[in-house]
Amino acid sequence: MVEMTDMYDKFAYAYRLFSKIEAGAIEGALSFLDLGDSKTFLDIGCGPGLALRLAGHRIKGPSFIIGLDRSRQMIDISREKHHSFKIHLIQGDALKLPLASDSFDSVFLSFTLELFEKKEQSMLLEEVARVLKEDGKLAVVSLNSLPPSLPKRIYEMLRMIFPDVLNCRPIDLIEVLRDGGFETLNSRDDMLWGLPVTYASAKTS
Ligand SMILES: C[S@@+](CC[C@H](N)C(=O)[O-])C[C@H]1O[C@@H](n2cnc3c(N)ncnc32)[C@H](O)[C@@H]1O
Repeated sequence: MVEMTDMYDKFAYAYRLFSKIEAGAIEGALSFLDLGDSKTFLDIGCGPGLALRLAGHRIKGPSFIIGLDRSRQMIDISREKHHSFKIHLIQGDALKLPLASDSFDSVFLSFTLELFEKKEQSMLLEEVARVLKEDGKLAVVSLNSLPPSLPKRIYEMLRMIFPDVLNCRPIDLIEVLRDGGFETLNSRDDMLWGLPVTYASAKTS
């Protein structure tokens, strides 16, 4: 089995092109955060950094925006693209965030929570809860396991054939958030190129 980070290192440049089609879904989830007032924003598994740029446009005034990813290549691509003094990039593990507790107004995850096994999803959400400020908010966009559709069936079939490449496993986001100790504040189901996605914002319960 290909180590997940090796795979993202290998395909980082191709993923950069692919990630552009996610812009609508990422905007949808960002709209659930009160980013105008946010001073500290963390994108976990930031990939090539699209959400960092979109969040940067929404956040007004002085702010501290951090993108964290385990893949060196993803961090390098993000760095090439984002020269803004507001954006800081860190190579690190989502399950062991190298960040202080109680320090972020907003935490963001796009197409990353569903990469992890069930037990690790709870570990990741525990880390999110630790770094969020008491009144901070989490927003997530993920592939949704609920509504059946033809593109979803095709995706699941391809995933069985290429599990190392198509490694986002659709999840019931609201249930994962609840199991991880988060209360959903807002949520919306949508489609991304025929695949069902859910956006949600949540706070620790
Ligand atoms: C499907 S991509 C999503 C990238 C980006 N959030 C987006 O929506 O375009 C998942 C990202 O999570 C990163 N990742 C995987 N495991 C990780 C871990 N344990 N810690 C931090 N990042 C991780 C990968 O390197 C990859 O960049």
